[in-house]
Amino acid sequence: MPLPNRVKIVEVGPRDGLQNESQPVPTAVKIELIDRLTDAGLPVIEATAFVSPKWVPQMADNAQVMAGIRRKPGVSYPVLVPNRKGLDAAIAAGAEEVAVFGAATESFSRRNTNCSVAEGLARFSEVCSEAIARGLKVRGDISVCLGCPYEGEVPPEAVVRVARELDAMGCYEITIADTIGTGTTGSTRKVIEAVAKYIPVERLAGHFHDTYGQGVANVYAALECGVATFDSSVAGLGGCPYAKGATGNVATEDVLYMLNGLGIATGVDMDKLIAAGDFICRVLGRPTHSRAAKALAARAAA
Ligand code: HMG
Ligand code: MG
Repeated sequence: MPLPNRVKIVEVGPRDGLQNESQPVPTAVKIELIDRLTDAGLPVIEATAFVSPKWVPQMADNAQVMAGIRRKPGVSYPVLVPNRKGLDAAIAAGAEEVAVFGAATESFSRRNTNCSVAEGLARFSEVCSEAIARGLKVRGDISVCLGCPYEGEVPPEAVVRVARELDAMGCYEITIADTIGTGTTGSTRKVIEAVAKYIPVERLAGHFHDTYGQGVANVYAALECGVATFDSSVAGLGGCPYAKGATGNVATEDVLYMLNGLGIATGVDMDKLIAAGDFICRVLGRPTHSRAAKALAARAAA
């Protein structure tokens, strides 16, 4: 399959990136990060999560973040919601797009959302019908598609089952997530091909954590299968609090560097993106995980 001419990058740093931070990140910093990412040209920025603050304290300022960001027309700011309570709070905060997040394995579903896969899907069904009736868009994320920290290898059929359910509920996009970054180009291709038998590949997205350094390669494998939407995190921030040892998403700068090299349009400005990564890394007091950002900064300083 020819590579797509254009790719939609979904920046998940403010949510996936920051949710795992043990030090409290000030709300004003989250807002400035999102505004900088908007200025860098990202078309979709996952802003926060309306989850239980007991489970993920870092996302407790969700409504303040939504109230503080400068929303640019045409840019989408989805938020995670695990249940009806989260949806109601997200709508009250002015969210126009939400993401439900299920899992391909029972163990991960229980650890992340305290319910079975089927119970989670029943909650999402209510969230989807209410959200869609109120004019919101709903994305459906599936965790542990390429390996589970509790169950090991995950058969593609388990991913297909959940994907078809999310599709039937009206999710406009289904995200295949490699939560712990164990996937390789071979397993990425396999799971995408399996899901694409039922859901058009144009409606699939890739979400690859970079724990094993496979993120960029997995993006390329998915591109070859026709996927044209990828989640990534500025400076490679992140991880899931319920997937111990898993590091951040593939860095947005690294994905952008590859896409620029392939001549694939994204609308994202590399310099502004690197500046946004630099901003958050300075606040967190740690270096970027992006190889491209490091190399480009070193070249600029030379
Ligand atoms: P639970 O404890 O079973 O919930 O948690 P519950 O329904 O029994 O309620 C317990 C308390 O939580 C109650 O409050 C509820 O009101 C409150 P209390 O009476 O004790 O004061 N509550 C809420 N509060 C705020 N917002 C809500 C909400 N729901 C209930 N939405 C629950 C179940 C699903 C809520 C919990 O497990 C949870 O919040 N989990 C979220 C975990 C999470 O955010 N994980 C990270 C995001 S997923 C991810 O990173 C993966 C992804 O990146 C893809 C990938 O890489 O794999 C997307
Ligand atoms: Mg993730």
